[in-house]
Amino acid sequence: MEIKSAEFIISSPAVNKCPAEQLPEYAFIGRSNVGKSSLINMLTSNRKLAMTSSKPGKTLLINHFLINKQWFLVDLPGYGYARIGKSGRERLEKMIRDYILHRENLTNLFVLIDSRLEPQQIDLDFLVFLGENGIPFSIVFTKTDKLSKSKLAQNIKTYHEKLFEQWEELPPLFVSSAETGLGREELLGYIEGINRTII
Ligand code: GTP
Ligand code: MG
Repeated sequence: MEIKSAEFIISSPAVNKCPAEQLPEYAFIGRSNVGKSSLINMLTSNRKLAMTSSKPGKTLLINHFLINKQWFLVDLPGYGYARIGKSGRERLEKMIRDYILHRENLTNLFVLIDSRLEPQQIDLDFLVFLGENGIPFSIVFTKTDKLSKSKLAQNIKTYHEKLFEQWEELPPLFVSSAETGLGREELLGYIEGINRTII
């Protein structure tokens, strides 16, 4: 799919402040610093669209980007960020939860997983929460440029095995790098395929 336009629309502190639920919406979630905002920039070929940082806890609101004037990419705050304190973390978790459970036009949630790490309990628990609530999701491994091909293959295999302990069927899995652009065509093609059935 060709990205003809990518425009920042609004940052919202709550799901009821987000734009009207009229267009298909694809959101990115995962632990703080996993690379959600960077992936949005990679997909749109615009390094300045979503704000990124080497320190976790950069994205703290629900950010809507209108793509090709037809659908939204949504950058969400990360989960599991400790430094903002308990009340701040609970507020963010409620924002994310409310968005995921109540956003009617949420078409697919991309759950980002750092490809360098062993399966993390917080991510596995989050996937269970999505399954229990019937939220359509896919998994995207990020930062794959930071490890060798063989280590990447090994980590993905480990992740598969871990998921199969809990799931009978796996969702679509993608590998990506915001640095090299790996996964861009696959992710955009996947979105395009879904859009074709609903727009
Ligand atoms: P929060 O908004 O804090 O939840 O983080 P985020 O998930 O949006 O992460 P962000 O995109 O801000 O990236 C965090 C850091 O990881 C930045 O320093 C990015 O440059 C780096 N990063 C993200 N994706 C990649 C990648 O694919 N490869 C490499 N090498 N670095 C990446
Ligand atoms: Mg971010």
